[in-house]
Amino acid sequence: MTASDPDPVDDVVATIARSAAEIRQGLVGRRGKADEENPSGETQAEADIWADELLADRLSSIDGVGQYASEERSEIIDAGDDQVYVAVDPLDGSSNLKSNNTMGTVFGIYDEPLPAPGSALVASGWILYGPITTMACARDGSVTKYELTGGGRTVVEEDVTLPDDPLVYGFGGRVPHWHDDFRAYVREIESDPGHKLRYGGAMIGDVNQVLTYGGIFAYPALEDSPRGKLRLQFEGNPIAYLIEAAGGRSSDGTQSILEVEPTDLHDRVPLHVGNTELIDRLEAALE
Ligand code: F6P
Repeated sequence: MTASDPDPVDDVVATIARSAAEIRQGLVGRRGKADEENPSGETQAEADIWADELLADRLSSIDGVGQYASEERSEIIDAGDDQVYVAVDPLDGSSNLKSNNTMGTVFGIYDEPLPAPGSALVASGWILYGPITTMACARDGSVTKYELTGGGRTVVEEDVTLPDDPLVYGFGGRVPHWHDDFRAYVREIESDPGHKLRYGGAMIGDVNQVLTYGGIFAYPALEDSPRGKLRLQFEGNPIAYLIEAAGGRSSDGTQSILEVEPTDLHDRVPLHVGNTELIDRLEAALE
């Protein structure tokens, strides 16, 4: 590739950013359930299927893109090229559609065919559909935050890092299903008067609070679900890559999520991300 060649990573990020306003607008009238399940056995919303089709069309037609994969479809789309491989969760937290709460779009851009380990990511990020639409994007070890308006994108902060003093925590899964050592860790975090609970039912909303205020988000291994709930390719790796680029840590309980070797496109992973000190303590607690 020469300096004047189009960069497929830039093109993928720009296409997702440009599509965000349309996705947000397209949620209107698509808040109902579709009569279908995604490959993880979850009921899909009409908007899940619609956003997946919109992103599949746009991203798989970009020069350099070799594959498009999504949480909402069992098979990978072969896009014909071989520079980058894109994994997307088109609408993270779509169960929040019914109550009109926060949701997101998550993406990971890998330089190896999928399923790939997080160490093969070259960029990742998320769109947050909050009171306004924002994007956080990690590339080359650095995180940038944007505000999105219509098709436009404005930088609001470069070289974003997690604040040093962690403030917020949010932990998914039913408490009776948590393992005892995880429960004991949560009690410690909760008992610190400097910490506040934030849990909104959409990972992107909760992780974006961690990026903004510092803290920890986890959807841990559960007694009835040893790999937790969240998907490695579409959620775990992209989030871990961004939080690590922002100076934090990720863990599956023992190692960085970026080191987890995938066995299947729809693998799940116990996910813990946040300030380094809190993830170090978590790993010690789970030993
Ligand atoms: O599918 C993923 C997801 O919607 C995440 O965005 C969120 O963190 C989690 O599921 C919420 O799960 P629960 O309803 O068990 O809290």
